[in-house]
Amino acid sequence: MNKIEKLIQKLPKAELHLHIEGSFEPELMFAIAKRNNINLPHDSVESLQATYEFNNLQEFLDIYYQGVNVLQTQQDYYDLTWAYLLKAQADNVVHTEIMFDPQSHTERGISIDTVINGIHQALVDAQTQLGISSFLIFSLLRHLSEQECLETLEQAVPHLDKIKAIGLDSSEMGHPPEKFTKLYKRAEELGLLKIAHAGEEGPPEYVWSAIDVLGIDRIDHGNRCLEDDNLVEYIKQKSLTLTVCPLSNLKLRVVDDLTHHPIKIMLDKGLNAMINSDDPAYFGGYVNDNFFAVADALDFSEEDIVQLVKNSFTGSFLSKDKIKEHIAQVDKLL
Ligand code: HPA
Ligand code: ZN
Repeated sequence: MNKIEKLIQKLPKAELHLHIEGSFEPELMFAIAKRNNINLPHDSVESLQATYEFNNLQEFLDIYYQGVNVLQTQQDYYDLTWAYLLKAQADNVVHTEIMFDPQSHTERGISIDTVINGIHQALVDAQTQLGISSFLIFSLLRHLSEQECLETLEQAVPHLDKIKAIGLDSSEMGHPPEKFTKLYKRAEELGLLKIAHAGEEGPPEYVWSAIDVLGIDRIDHGNRCLEDDNLVEYIKQKSLTLTVCPLSNLKLRVVDDLTHHPIKIMLDKGLNAMINSDDPAYFGGYVNDNFFAVADALDFSEEDIVQLVKNSFTGSFLSKDKIKEHIAQVDKLL
């Protein structure tokens, strides 16, 4: 490990953009498929992994939703979440805000209680056994209708004590934020914070409307905001954090090469950008792998790493006091 990599490993950090279904490693997928008597369309981990080559977001999503199909019991959701939390601990993640896609489970007849209770129990155990704090984010699929999303959101009501925020993911192009105006109003009524994927493949206009129409508290990805100087200023004025996912951007061809990744430009412009793994089982690594890859490609300084790590806490939904404590802990280690 070089000096920068050692620093990355040493510093405690938060992860704010992680789809729990995207942390489903092939080995665990095969194990769960076996105990649920489900036949996967591949006969080995290697032949499944050979399909993990994507030209765009949609090609990835088609494979990602297929993988989800083997999850059935509360134990399956617990095991999936626990496996991610162990990886997070190894990367010195001390706080994580994870998304799940309720509709990818409920549309197969799995009850929302099974999904939420399984994930939640792992998160509770992570606090006591691994020292990792967390929030859970209820993420709706934007390729579905607003009415379907509204109906799914109502199913969250008995579980509001376990859910911090609403999110919006899946196919971005053709599904602009304003399609979900009523959904986000309802989430606000329920006391949820609000985030949305915007500007991953979609244009700067989608980032504008995620902010102005949906009233989001944080932006997932946001890469394409850099095409609009006024938007960059607006995001800074509102102190909105961008949850950036470098290896995801590379695998989904949002960038052609990590040496062209915009994270350094974002920092230089004073945007509150931070680093995440998105769907680590599919994109080639967990959060530290993402740090290592851009640190190498963009020749990051120690100051850049410290800024990114501090941004990860500033952008979290933790209380101001907790954020201060985490940042003080980072400073103590420098
Ligand atoms: N973008 C949109 N939807 C998603 C993603 C992503 O990166 N990962 C899982 N669902
Ligand atoms: Zn994502």
